[in-house]
Amino acid sequence: MTRTAIVTGAARGIGAAIATRLAADGMAVAVLDLDESACKTTVDAIEAAGGTALAVGADVADEAAVTAAVERIATELGAPTVLINNAGVLRDNLLFKMSVADWDTVMNVHLRGAFLMTRAVQKYMVEAKFGRVVNLSSTSALGNRGQVNYSAAKAGMQGFTKTLAFELGKFGVTANAIAPGFIETEMTAATAARVGADFEAFKAAAAAQIPVNRVGTPDDIAHTASFFVSEGAGFVSGQVVYVAGGPKD
Ligand SMILES: NC(=O)c1ccc[n+]([C@@H]2O[C@H](COP(=O)([O-])OP(=O)(O)OC[C@H]3O[C@@H](n4cnc5c(N)ncnc54)[C@H](O)[C@@H]3O)[C@@H](O)[C@H]2O)c1
Repeated sequence: MTRTAIVTGAARGIGAAIATRLAADGMAVAVLDLDESACKTTVDAIEAAGGTALAVGADVADEAAVTAAVERIATELGAPTVLINNAGVLRDNLLFKMSVADWDTVMNVHLRGAFLMTRAVQKYMVEAKFGRVVNLSSTSALGNRGQVNYSAAKAGMQGFTKTLAFELGKFGVTANAIAPGFIETEMTAATAARVGADFEAFKAAAAAQIPVNRVGTPDDIAHTASFFVSEGAGFVSGQVVYVAGGPKD
């Protein structure tokens, strides 16, 4: 049977790679991002490869937009039973310089966004007696200078994941988190630019600290997500996998 997956923040980066991979795995994929037209590149790539995809514009932190988006996806693609909460933003600063707005933005996109999306999708999972939720955490959950907001949100994603696993397990729904290390995307390119570093030099410096001696790619994360949402992974739930080229505590 064809399952319907929703990938948030899928216009680019890790989300685009996950959407493309799940479509290649045979799922119909809702490519959700802030701007519907920005989803076109990912949708076109999926369709060019013979897959099925739908571009959906929504802010995951907006309750009404989330409700409308999930209803539209259920109608146009089929009941969603796979959800990847990937949408994310950075608003880095040291604590003493961090504004309330930058704190709230990061909490809203990651935590409120994952909550609203999962709450809207869970009824389809429970009805189907099958569901797969994958939440994007980060190695920053373990603490990272200049990221009190992001670190707190990404640690929060882990607690959220484990509680979903407890509440939804009896309905055939698993929930797991992926905590990436340094992945080459526009997000990390923007971080390099913000600190005035050349991106190639920034990546080389990061790679030198990583046991497998390279930075990660969006496909590294897509591969892990593909496993978590697979039919055979039904006994794997409440886990946090650090996909970081080496061990993390
Ligand atoms: N790149 C890394 O090294 C890295 C490491 C650890 C975790 N992550 C996490 O992985 C996820 C993807 O990161 P990325 O590097 O691909 O980032 P990215 O900035 O390249 O892409 C993020 C996408 O999310 C979308 N988005 C932002 N706010 C949104 C909202 N309110 N509603 C809907 N969509 C929204 C953006 O428009 C963008 O397309 C994020 O949750 C990020 O925190 C990334």
